[in-house]
Amino acid sequence: MKIAMIGFGTVGQGLAQILRDKADELCERYGFSAKIVAVYTRSRGSLVHPHGLDPAALLQAIAGGSLDQYPEQDRLERGWDALRIARESNADVLVEVSPTNLETGQPALDICRAALESGRHIVLANKGPVAVAYRELALKAEAAGRAFLFEGTVMAGTPSLRLAREALAGCTISEVRGIINGTTNYILTQMETGMGYSEALQQAQDIGYAEADPTADVDGWDAAGKAIILAQALFGVRFTFDQMSVRGISHLTAQDIADAKAVGERWKLIARVTPESASVQPQRIPVTHPLAGVSGGTNALTFTTDLMGEITLIGAGAGGIQTGFGVLSDLLAIYRQVRS
Ligand code: HSE
Repeated sequence: MKIAMIGFGTVGQGLAQILRDKADELCERYGFSAKIVAVYTRSRGSLVHPHGLDPAALLQAIAGGSLDQYPEQDRLERGWDALRIARESNADVLVEVSPTNLETGQPALDICRAALESGRHIVLANKGPVAVAYRELALKAEAAGRAFLFEGTVMAGTPSLRLAREALAGCTISEVRGIINGTTNYILTQMETGMGYSEALQQAQDIGYAEADPTADVDGWDAAGKAIILAQALFGVRFTFDQMSVRGISHLTAQDIADAKAVGERWKLIARVTPESASVQPQRIPVTHPLAGVSGGTNALTFTTDLMGEITLIGAGAGGIQTGFGVLSDLLAIYRQVRS
């Protein structure tokens, strides 16, 4: 499988690390082999090679500051823009892992459109195009007979969408509720131990949980974007931000955290999605509640179903390797589908 990566930040590098470290295992166990034939970054260079770029050398180059440091070789091309890669590279799959823009989905949305129009599958960890233009992309992909997959957009590689759409197919899901932002959950957890808000946020950024602009995380918009994706993917319903009640955690003080703690409660940023409504709100919940035990960058979602009652999924909600795995799980799904 030939893949083109648009974006080579935390998630793109996470995927490259997985492909570097698990190439033999993926080939032996599944017969799966992925070649990175193009990598684009906005300000740190871009590379195209029809026979594949070496993941280890890509990681080394970016660690040195720029893909320009990638060693010269025959047929290597530099400097292609993202649209040209989407249209003219020899990739089977375009992997969109550039920073999320929840307002317009751009520039990633146009790149996804171009990739589908050029006959490529698209896999996204970038939430923007999925939240903004889910229906358009789904219809385009269907018409072209190509995949439009985005497991990494919600709960990183923890299989929230695949669980709901595949393993629970046949159940009717009436509500999804839980913690779907790693940064805020990490901050709240650290503040309970006495750490200040700014230091906790800085740590979340250092670990690679936070968005390029962490305002989206702390003000609840990242979780709201994921709620929009869940509503589309699970209920076929489109919500916009102005139809949702959204509040983040940036107003919470150390005193608020201490007050909750004193009466056996914890603050959590809770998203709730039903076919009728979607919201994101900080809530005080008893420490005995299952969601209260979900700490740090971990996320959790409870699916309320008709046939199975409640099913709760707990796992990593952010992080480069974890979200890179979300992308890999989609690539493997395409590979299985193409083979069958
Ligand atoms: N910034 C996001 C979070 C990354 O903290 O959950 C995963 O989507």
